[in-house]
Amino acid sequence: MRTIKEIVPVALENHRYEIIIAASLLEDIITPIQAVLTGKRCVVISDATVAPLYADGILNQFAKAGYAATLITINSGDKNKNFSSLQYICEKLLDFKVDRNCFLVALGGGVIGDITGLAASLILRGIPYIQIPTTLLAQVDSSVGGKTAINMPQGKNLVGAFYQPSLVLIDSTVLRTLGKREILAGYAEILKYGLINDAPFFAWLEQHGAAVCALDPAAVHYAVATSCRAKAAIVAADEKETSGLRALLNLGHTFGHALEAAVGYSDTVLHGEAVAMGCLMAFQLSVDLGQCPPQDLERLKQHQQACGYALTLPALADFPWQAETLVELMALDKKVADQKKTFVLAKGIGASYLDKNIDDSSVIKALNKFIKV
Ligand SMILES: NC(=O)c1ccc[n+]([C@@H]2O[C@H](COP(=O)([O-])OP(=O)(O)OC[C@H]3O[C@@H](n4cnc5c(N)ncnc54)[C@H](O)[C@@H]3O)[C@@H](O)[C@H]2O)c1
Ligand SMILES: [Zn+2]
Repeated sequence: MRTIKEIVPVALENHRYEIIIAASLLEDIITPIQAVLTGKRCVVISDATVAPLYADGILNQFAKAGYAATLITINSGDKNKNFSSLQYICEKLLDFKVDRNCFLVALGGGVIGDITGLAASLILRGIPYIQIPTTLLAQVDSSVGGKTAINMPQGKNLVGAFYQPSLVLIDSTVLRTLGKREILAGYAEILKYGLINDAPFFAWLEQHGAAVCALDPAAVHYAVATSCRAKAAIVAADEKETSGLRALLNLGHTFGHALEAAVGYSDTVLHGEAVAMGCLMAFQLSVDLGQCPPQDLERLKQHQQACGYALTLPALADFPWQAETLVELMALDKKVADQKKTFVLAKGIGASYLDKNIDDSSVIKALNKFIKV
């Protein structure tokens, strides 16, 4: 099969980098890295699941090309995106005698990408890093845009920095070792781009979503590249979320983060599963407020059902869900300013907007439609 290769530039005011998307790209990572970084020492950061699968291949390439490279591994899962993992990484980097010519390589999902980016921003006041995302979610979302963070007991991603990578290398073949549940979780973020501002992409997903989730190479390539282009455009226009445009990427996330917090960021509900449910909730609230045609909510429900997502909270997880508790958890979200929660709502599929004046009672009413069914 001919390899399809696509380069998506992320053109920020003070920094420009490329997202390179191609199947089997990881067979040669040295050529693209040498094009942007001159350092010959680097540290690959990965987790206990991904490292045994892919780290050797990467480290061997560095060794053959004359780099001094080492590996730092942390435990897998969102609960390990925390201060103690960050401290462990920083101590290991200092043991390696990291200097400003070194760079970090984030080899893993969003957890590894976020914590590696944060470590890169902090160590020696900042060294370069590149992203090699290995989950669908990381390939379409977290590896692009420079948001780095760790979770705190008070909430998700509350300690972090904006710190852009020097390069993002996306190879869809690594998705083959990912479980079905993780693929569906990543697909939720793809769906999000269609819902935000790209109705034709949503319509394409209605036709080809099953092929994406079955990892058909051409379908995955198109979905990943379209998602990366969408994210790159939004990030270039509003890197630090000042104009409100980047905040649209949080569609489904105000609800989703509350669901994740309720279950203690455990595997009971994955981030992408929470986002998929959160998108439904945002559309329900938009319909309740008279902003969105009910047919658009129905269309979204039908597609999500066809993909295999839960459509109610009891179907999502066996948990004592309570609308009032979820609203309290939303108040801890980063997007709260002057005690006002920010909601990303929709006038329809592909037409999202921000609203900071939503009463808790409307949110509770919408949430209860997913609990008391
Ligand atoms: N920075 C951002 O803009 C941004 C955006 C969205 C999400 N996030 C963050 O991303 C995280 C979620 O990312 P995620 O879903 O990738 O989670 P993850 O990194 O925990 O990966 C999910 C699981 O899959 C395993 N895995 C990864 N790649 C694999 C592969 N190729 N084969 C087999 N197993 C593999 C991991 O070890 C882990 O157990 C959350 O912490 C979320 O807050 C950040
Ligand atoms: Zn997300």
